[in-house]
Amino acid sequence: MKTLMLFSTRDGQTREIAAHLCSQLSELDVETAMVDLHRTDSVDWAQYDRVIIGASIRYGHFHPALDRFVKKHAAALQAIPGAFFAVNLVARKPEKRSPQTNSYTRKFLLRSPWQPDACAVFAGALRYPRYGWFDRFMIRLIMKMTGGETDTRKEVVYTDWEQVSAFAKEIAQLSRK
Ligand SMILES: Cc1cc2nc3c(=O)[nH]c(=O)nc-3n(C[C@H](O)[C@H](O)[C@H](O)COP(=O)(O)O)c2cc1C
Repeated sequence: MKTLMLFSTRDGQTREIAAHLCSQLSELDVETAMVDLHRTDSVDWAQYDRVIIGASIRYGHFHPALDRFVKKHAAALQAIPGAFFAVNLVARKPEKRSPQTNSYTRKFLLRSPWQPDACAVFAGALRYPRYGWFDRFMIRLIMKMTGGETDTRKEVVYTDWEQVSAFAKEIAQLSRK
């Protein structure tokens, strides 16, 4: 049996975090399978004894595919130990990095038919040179308003990899339902 790691990413940071979790889990003897949530029409749940879903925020929202997936697979998700992690830039501020203090995550958990057994919020990455002009302009505006990095030549990774490793340990300890 394996742990299913589903990720929803736009620019790749959530995939990187998912890959880091998988490598940490493999050191803890947990076998994982990484799957892009946007490419899952059907899932053979019989193969998996644990599930992790990670998703990023863009303009205040997770990708709509996340809600669709959770709704469609709610019963299967609820039947096995599960973990959720959210990735966003608000979480670069430590006080906004918990499921209770990160509004995107809190709202997701409030409306989700799936209630994961473990949940984390990770700071994502700011990669100005990779954005189109509109996104670069908008993100810079948000950063200016919130006291963040405004130099559009920069790429900054705010992810705390030790926090990610600690979450892997928490997931490895989730017990069977
Ligand atoms: C166009 C755009 C909009 C974003 N909107 C938000 C936002 O509303 N709130 C936030 O906290 N972070 C926001 N972010 C930051 C992303 O969540 C962050 O860059 C994250 O690392 C993206 O993860 P991904 O590469 O897996 O998609 C935005 C980033 C981009 C490029």
